[in-house]
Amino acid sequence: MGLLEPTGGPLDHHRQVTVAPALPSYERWGSLADKRILVRVDFNTPVAEVDGRLEVTDDFRIRSTLPLFEALLAHGATVVACTHFGRPKGEVVAKYSVEPVRRRLRALCPGVTLMENLRFNPGEEANDPAFGASLVEGFDYYINEAFSASHRAHASIMIPPTLVASAAGPNLAREVETITSLLERPQRPFVAIIGGAKVADKLAITKVLCAKADTVIVGGGMAYTFEAAEGRSIGSSLFDASYVEQCAQLLAAGNVLIPSDATGLATGAAFGSGGPEPARSFGRDIPEGDVGLDIGPETIEAFTAAISGAATILWNGPMGVFEDPRFAAGTEAIARAVAASSATSVVGGGDSVAALQQFGLEGDVSFVSTGGGASLELVELGDLPGLRALRESPFNQ
Ligand code: 3PG
Ligand code: MG
Repeated sequence: MGLLEPTGGPLDHHRQVTVAPALPSYERWGSLADKRILVRVDFNTPVAEVDGRLEVTDDFRIRSTLPLFEALLAHGATVVACTHFGRPKGEVVAKYSVEPVRRRLRALCPGVTLMENLRFNPGEEANDPAFGASLVEGFDYYINEAFSASHRAHASIMIPPTLVASAAGPNLAREVETITSLLERPQRPFVAIIGGAKVADKLAITKVLCAKADTVIVGGGMAYTFEAAEGRSIGSSLFDASYVEQCAQLLAAGNVLIPSDATGLATGAAFGSGGPEPARSFGRDIPEGDVGLDIGPETIEAFTAAISGAATILWNGPMGVFEDPRFAAGTEAIARAVAASSATSVVGGGDSVAALQQFGLEGDVSFVSTGGGASLELVELGDLPGLRALRESPFNQ
């Protein structure tokens, strides 16, 4: 601080990314009476067959849009929602019809109409301007309330803001604000926890977090490539040779914490949802032929100690194969440490959110992000195509 202090704020070398301007809100439109509003939602929810027909098994994404729908309806607007559902690849595929979602929506909010699956039309994923224009024909306004789809530069996300006055839905805005402020103005120490199977999927976010967080904890299958980069033997554990060099560079930065022991199995022993073979404990090195599938007890202690001292926590990705009870201890310990912490804690990614649910800890973190891919991309790149489309809309200048 002092002489070098730039514009009133404390000198902070982490503050390199400029915070994007606020997203436009629908509240500035004035009266919505008799207006037709198209709302892009993400109702890509899990379904399962019940009595011969598909039913929604988790309606979280549907319920979370109800406050917006109810507010718009209360203002006298006509509300039509649109979503993608699965990956039908531009063709009409019966099992990807939004019908189960539509039934659930009708039960929760009868006043809103839901269009058929956007991805039945090849124009959606191709970001075809004509398809995008056909969606908003006859509408006065467009609202994007689909944070978890806003990393896709698809027609329903990109084209409407070029044609009609457009706004960010409240959930999308909150999600962006939470993630952005966590990255730009974290209370310190800021501890990031990254896990998951593939180092290829998570290396970019790990790099960004190394520059922003005080400590980056790396676990899960991706950690074995970091261990190999330290010259340790990892047996037959998950490994990606093409990332060893970059992992070594990240380790050299000095703020990455990786596992010092592991729990796993002998090669060929089945895992995934339990199995007869007892788990094996490994130290720093995993013997030839054996496979690490979770972090070990010494690692749990080191990781949870780092988490307990945090003022801000970002967690994305499990520590092991937690669907298998033999390899759930690491992920459960991390989930419990995050939940027990008084830090601001943000959890993103389908697997970490599923782990929180499995251990009944969902209510014990500050924020659960609905967007797996979208939240990763927002952390990595600081922006998303769908957010840019809203900001760059000619109706918002
Ligand atoms: C999701 O569920 O992850 C989002 O809806 C995005 O779906 P997509 O990965 O098929 O684009
Ligand atoms: Mg996904």
